[in-house]
Amino acid sequence: MKSQDELKLMVARAALSYIPVGGVLGVGSGSTVAKFIEQIASEGIRVGRAVSSSNKTTAMLRDIGVEVVDPNTIDGYDVYIDGADEVNERFEAIKGGGACLTREKILASMARTFVCIVDKSKLVTQLGRFPLPVEVIPMARAQVARTLRAMGGEPVLREGCITDNGCEILDVHNFMIPDAVSAEDHINSIPGVVTVGLFARRGVDVVLYADDEGVKVLDNDSTLL
Ligand code: 5RP
Repeated sequence: MKSQDELKLMVARAALSYIPVGGVLGVGSGSTVAKFIEQIASEGIRVGRAVSSSNKTTAMLRDIGVEVVDPNTIDGYDVYIDGADEVNERFEAIKGGGACLTREKILASMARTFVCIVDKSKLVTQLGRFPLPVEVIPMARAQVARTLRAMGGEPVLREGCITDNGCEILDVHNFMIPDAVSAEDHINSIPGVVTVGLFARRGVDVVLYADDEGVKVLDNDSTLL
């Protein structure tokens, strides 16, 4: 049986074929994406320009010679490649385990195609086993936490975590999410929330997932589970 690390590497390699020739590539964050960036370098693949979802990803891309541009300088772009913490059969995801959810959501919203790269353990029938990250403005932390508690969740401040935007993360435990679109709307409307790590309104277009047999491709015409 393959380790999760091996599965992440397999799916990272498979994502190389989605890099647009001469176009702009959006790059997410996390350990699967880190492997994807390493593969770009080791395979000598040429990336025209990139937009990046975190300071860490920007540094990794620049280290391998990729030009990273400000998203404000482009109107949109072709392909965004990123990992996820959970993906359901409706191609909705939880993201933000690496605290980069807001920038990831901005880049996903600008992309024509969002390719999500995961190992099979991330595929779920219902979102919420993974604690839902919510980025908050620090002065609103307690009030947002009260509201999330009233919604039935158990928010826990992610200790020692300050996001690239200077904000904090509440991880909401024990909060199963049958309707991700309405949960996304509801949580995003709480004053002080920067964004919730639910990617439902702008979900995933293509899921690449790795299991022991190899990498499988699902697009929003196919059945996920
Ligand atoms: C970062 C993210 C990551 O994509 C998510 O946490 C998955 O990470 P990994 O590839 O390390 O399992 O949303 O904010």
